[in-house]
Amino acid sequence: MNTAPLAALNHIPPHLQTIADYQKQAKLHLDAATWANLEGAAGDEYSLNNNRTAFANIQLLPRHLNSFKDANTQIQLLGEHYPHPIFLAPVAYQQLFHPQGEIATAQAASAMQAPMILSHLSTTPMATLNQVSSAPKWFQLYSQGSRKAALDLIFQAQHYAYQAIVLTVDAPHMGIRDQERRAYFQLPAHIQAVHHHPVSTATLKDNQHALFDGLMQQAATWEDIAWLVQHSPLPILLKGILHPADAQQAYQCGVQGIIVSNHGGRVLDTAVSPIQILSTMRKILPHDFPILLDSGIRRGTDIFKALALGANAVLIGRPYIYGLAVAGALGAAHSIKLLKEEFEVSMALMGTSCIEQINDSYIYQK
Ligand SMILES: Cc1cc2nc3c(=O)[nH]c(=O)nc-3n(C[C@H](O)[C@H](O)[C@H](O)COP(=O)(O)O)c2cc1C
Repeated sequence: MNTAPLAALNHIPPHLQTIADYQKQAKLHLDAATWANLEGAAGDEYSLNNNRTAFANIQLLPRHLNSFKDANTQIQLLGEHYPHPIFLAPVAYQQLFHPQGEIATAQAASAMQAPMILSHLSTTPMATLNQVSSAPKWFQLYSQGSRKAALDLIFQAQHYAYQAIVLTVDAPHMGIRDQERRAYFQLPAHIQAVHHHPVSTATLKDNQHALFDGLMQQAATWEDIAWLVQHSPLPILLKGILHPADAQQAYQCGVQGIIVSNHGGRVLDTAVSPIQILSTMRKILPHDFPILLDSGIRRGTDIFKALALGANAVLIGRPYIYGLAVAGALGAAHSIKLLKEEFEVSMALMGTSCIEQINDSYIYQK
C-alpha cells in the first residue's frame, strides 16, 4: 500500500475540515472556466441542488446501547471484500484539475483503499495506474458506436487487472451546461482522452436530423448491452439508471449491478435525485443484486442514508476532485478520509456496528 500521502494527513491546515471547505478552497485553485466545468450542472441546476436537498430532507432515527464488538465498515461486492463502501466515481480529464491528474487520484485511492473507477475520458493510460496504486480498479466506458471498440477496451482493462466495467448510459449526448458555456470552457490542446477514439458519424443528407440521425445512432441500445454482457470477461454495471423499469431491464439483461445516478446533475436537469428513487429500486430488485448510488454525497450521514435505503456502496465525484485540485494526491486522500471518518462516526451514533445492520428502520418515515 502506498502510504506516502497518508503520512502528511496529520498536518492538514485547520480550514479544511469538510468537503464544503475543500469545495471553497478548490475554487481558488482553478481558473473560472475549469471551475465551471467541475462545478457546473445542466440547465437551471435544479437536479444539482436537489441532490443535496434530498439528502438533507431525510431524517435519521438513531438507536443506542448496541454492542460495538468487532465493529467494522467492510462490504462484499461482486465477490470481493472492500474495507469501506466509498468508491471514486469516474471523472473525465483529471489533468484539468491537477497536473498529476489520475495518477494523483490513484495514489489517494491506494492510501485510502478506495476503489477507483477510471473514466473512459482519462488523461492517463489505464496501464499507468497499476504502477502507482494497489487499490482495486474498475474501468468506465461510454458507448462510442462500435461494439468491437468497446470490447477491445474491456479486454485491455482485464489485461491490466481492472475488476469490473461501468457502462455509463445516461449521457448519449452531453448535458447542456450553461455555466460552462458562459465561461467559454474548452479543453486545452494538451488535455487528451487517451482511450477515447470516437467513430466519425456518417455524412448527413439534407433531410436528416443532426442529433437523431447523427450522434444518437451511435448511442448504445439494450441489444448492445446484452451483447456486451455476453462477450465481456468482466462484470458489467450500468451507470446512470434512474427509472425502475430500466433497473429491471438491466437485471434481466444479465448486468451484474447498477449505479443509480443523475451524473451529479450534469446531464438532464430536473432528473430525479438518486436518493429519492433508491428505495423503489431496492424493492423491485433481488436483495443480493448490487445497487450503487452517487450524486450529492458530501457527508458521512449521506453515505449512511444511501446504505439504509438500499445501496451496497456509494460513489463520490466532485468531493475527491476538490481535494485533488487543492493538494493533488494528499488533498484527494484527505477528502476521502474525511468522508470515511464521518461515516464511521455516523455508524457509532446510529448504533449500527456493521454495514449489514444498516436498513430503512433507521430512517424516519412520516
Ligand atoms: C468534472 C466531472 C467529470 C465527470 N466525468 C464523468 C465521466 O467521464 N464518466 C462518467 O460516467 N461520469 C462522469 N461524471 C459523473 C460522476 O461519475 C458522478 O456520477 C458524479 O460526479 C456524482 O455526483 P457528485 O459529483 O455530486 O458526487 C463526471 C462528473 C464531474 C463532476
